[in-house]
Amino acid sequence: MCGIVGYAGSVKTACGKPLEVCLQGLKRLEYRGYDSAGVALTAPGMGHVEVRKKAGRLANLVDDIEAHPMPDATVAIGHTRWATNGAPSDSNAHPHTSMDGKVAIIHNGIIENASQLRLDLQAEGYHFTSATDTEVAAKLLGKIVDIVIAEKGEPDLFEAIRRLARMLEGAFTILAVDERQPGIVVGARHDSPLVVGLGDGENFLGSDVAAFVAYTKRAMEVDQDQCVCISADDVTITDFFGNVVDNPVVFTVDWDASAAEKGGWDSFMDKEIHEDPAAVQRTLIGRMDDDGHINLDEVRIDEHELKSIDKIIVIGCGTASYAGMVAKYAIEHWVRIPVEIELAHEFRYRDPILTPRTLVVAISQSGETMDTLMALRHAREQGSKVLAICNTQGASIAREADAVLYTQAGPEVAVASTKAFVAQITAAYVLGLYLAQLKGAVYRDEIHSTLASLKDMPAKIQWVLDTQAAAIEQAARELADSKSFLFLGRHVGYPVAMEGALKLKEIAYTFTEGFAAGELKHGPIALVEPGEPVVFIVPPKRGRDVLHAKVISGIEEVKARGATIIAVAEENDPDVKRYADIVFWRPACPTLMSPLVDVVPLQLFAMDVAKQKGYDVDKPRNLAKSVTVE
Ligand code: F6R
Repeated sequence: MCGIVGYAGSVKTACGKPLEVCLQGLKRLEYRGYDSAGVALTAPGMGHVEVRKKAGRLANLVDDIEAHPMPDATVAIGHTRWATNGAPSDSNAHPHTSMDGKVAIIHNGIIENASQLRLDLQAEGYHFTSATDTEVAAKLLGKIVDIVIAEKGEPDLFEAIRRLARMLEGAFTILAVDERQPGIVVGARHDSPLVVGLGDGENFLGSDVAAFVAYTKRAMEVDQDQCVCISADDVTITDFFGNVVDNPVVFTVDWDASAAEKGGWDSFMDKEIHEDPAAVQRTLIGRMDDDGHINLDEVRIDEHELKSIDKIIVIGCGTASYAGMVAKYAIEHWVRIPVEIELAHEFRYRDPILTPRTLVVAISQSGETMDTLMALRHAREQGSKVLAICNTQGASIAREADAVLYTQAGPEVAVASTKAFVAQITAAYVLGLYLAQLKGAVYRDEIHSTLASLKDMPAKIQWVLDTQAAAIEQAARELADSKSFLFLGRHVGYPVAMEGALKLKEIAYTFTEGFAAGELKHGPIALVEPGEPVVFIVPPKRGRDVLHAKVISGIEEVKARGATIIAVAEENDPDVKRYADIVFWRPACPTLMSPLVDVVPLQLFAMDVAKQKGYDVDKPRNLAKSVTVE
């Protein structure tokens, strides 16, 4: 939530570049929040910090800057906001400034002691022009800067931000500039992300690497409770008390800036759904050999410890939690140990039974979801090992876990998660098969045949994209005005139904519910109305497998009550042909593999319905991609 960019250059390199970097970075980070945007910049001799900010999308700010250009600068900070504290408006937009206008800050997070600090400052005569916690931090930082100047006889913004960080409670990443030190940008982070981009004669800061990857792929981690100061030629990281961090971790970003561009697609969501096959394929690469042997050296948990695991708890939120639900069916089947799946925010605030033999698997695309991060810490505090399945290099969840298995989906920009979901399922399956291999829980040839099926899945997903898109678009046209949708599935079709319902509600703003199909007669059937759509995920029909028959009988019951039946089913399934009004076909595959294909038409359908209704599918209202506050 909220996107943050910072840039420090020199008079030689800078000119219009600080502003350009901020606006470019904000464009790439806009998925983190799009209620308002703003920038602040300064340069030697400017004598003030120039601030520009606008409510609404980044485009409003860009238009304003084009109409009224900003001066050249050496340093700049930029912010795109997802409102937590104070409604979206010009005055609540960031940056906020100190009383004298010499210091400007931007902030991501929630400062929990802001009300008390505001009262204290008001008692001292400070005035506020916004309802935000950020303005409180700005006024307080201005005051601290003055105290530091009085003590040292010269400005020291780095020292001032450390003192500020020690006074704040809650979650924050803060960046600040001061017109008296126009060569530096300083930052502080606690429970909120921040990463440094290392340039040549210039340096960058960002909420994530997308902020600066167009300029540099070399990045440096800023850890929990650390402060950073960047100038054109230097980066210094300290703790909140000024102790310098030696050898901070430097890494190379493994994707190109072009991966986070639309590349000819009319939306990121469309592009990313079409990257589903590649996301699965890349997540498999290098992790298995042709003999059906899985090699996960990257999982830095001792093999003996992994062998002794007697329970797995998967934690995540939203789409990531549905990937975890799918994983439960597969891992329990392969490894024969209990797997629980729990929403991270519920897990964190109860008293889960964890032992050193419990493996907690934290699934997160962004790697910054605060609920999941807090749940991860909760698990580690109690002695359990945590393995992260994460899509973002260097993200907090990846760093704080004992081990990480990266999904290789590439940057996901659209707010609704699509390619990350199939990559998460793939990674969880690889993990499950690896544990099965370690524990010797299933016969070697079952691992072998399962891996062969997994390898086939990218082509099968591609088949859905190539052959079903027209039918899905047609269905979206016919059903876009429906007032509600039910999604029903059994076994691994159940989490797919949940995910299908989530996709449609979040981007088409249609009321949807996902249920286990077996629940139908226990309540949801009361919602069925003539003409209203009900979506069934139909499992493959194999031998004596009863799942298929059970779902078909559910379809019959709903059909008898006049609903419009949409089915996601295996090609040429005769029972489905008989009852369904609309079918999205998938190629034949084993039941445990079916979520990887079944979700694809539901992703496309949600996108097409939203487009029919004229909505921005990449930036749905009220949402942000990376939920970095609880
Ligand atoms: C839905 C969606 C969210 C995220 C959830 C977890 O399309 O995007 O439900 O899946 O907020 O996010 P990550 O995976 O970044 O932890």
